[in-house]
Amino acid sequence: MNPSVCFYDYQPAPADMRAEVIHGLSQDQKRIPPKFFYDRRGSRLFDAITELPEYYPTRTEIGILHSHGAEMAEVVGRGALLVELGSGSSLKIRCLLEALEPAVYVPVDISRDHLMESATKLAASFPGLEVHAACADYSVPFGLPVEPNGHDLAAFFPGSSIGNFDPADARHFLERIGTLVGPGGKLLIGVDLVKDSRTLHAAYNDAQGVTADFNLNLLRRINRELEGDFDLATFEHNAFFNADESRIEMHLVSRIEQTVRVAGRGFAFRAGESIHTESSYKYTIEGFQALARQAGFEAARCWTDTKQLFSVHCLRFG
Ligand SMILES: C[S@@+](CC[C@H](N)C(=O)[O-])C[C@H]1O[C@@H](n2cnc3c(N)ncnc32)[C@H](O)[C@@H]1O
Repeated sequence: MNPSVCFYDYQPAPADMRAEVIHGLSQDQKRIPPKFFYDRRGSRLFDAITELPEYYPTRTEIGILHSHGAEMAEVVGRGALLVELGSGSSLKIRCLLEALEPAVYVPVDISRDHLMESATKLAASFPGLEVHAACADYSVPFGLPVEPNGHDLAAFFPGSSIGNFDPADARHFLERIGTLVGPGGKLLIGVDLVKDSRTLHAAYNDAQGVTADFNLNLLRRINRELEGDFDLATFEHNAFFNADESRIEMHLVSRIEQTVRVAGRGFAFRAGESIHTESSYKYTIEGFQALARQAGFEAARCWTDTKQLFSVHCLRFG
């Protein structure tokens, strides 16, 4: 491993996955948190999704970062200790590193192997950068693996992953980021915007079926890691825009009536019954800024693409 990467394993526990999956499958509306999508195969499938013609968010956000990186650096400030939450392939931060010139980069991700590979590649491309990679579940509190040592703190949370939280949970999560960066600390965050439902529908129902494969991979992972016996052929991907809630919902729908065993327990499905696997809330700029204010952040600046598909906000805490 590249010596310029320090790796910290907070060990997001398999026991938690077992408990959370059993709890979720026991609800009237069965649900499994989206963080469990990301085993090694899930992380690779997500990367494939980002390259699909229908999936506008990644290339649009990258376009915004490329176009406005220098302005972002002015508002965020250079030389910070920069924490990226859900860093995945650490692709987007590459657009900003030259402008932001962080003193230290701390990628945080739940997908251990993928994180190690990505952090190592990044450190090789930016040899002067100090990288401290932390495998952790950001949905539960965790401490920074390094001391700020006088550097300002900034967080980067791209990919509209904030949209995976229900609004009340999103507010709590933003509050926790506020605690992490402290008074005056900055958050640069990508947020997908409300738009016509056809564009949204296409983005989560690609013609090649990669999103369906990504969704179904969750069952494959449960079979492997939690002694499950899901028959993947009897489940299908379903994603739709719920306009009342302003969110895309992803589900896995049982085609038949059946009982599935997971971790020694039986879970009955009616034909057509679903597991809700992900929500992706879509915000207006004003709606998101109002949510951020409730969490103690003030809006410093917001950038969008010309088609107003996606937004990147810089927020200041306290
Ligand atoms: C939708 S992908 C976004 C990846 C990348 N940030 C981007 O914008 O393209 C979500 C990333 O967050 C990670 N992730 C999801 N839930 C997480 C959690 N609770 N804690 C830490 N990482 C998480 C996944 O492993 C994945 O790399």
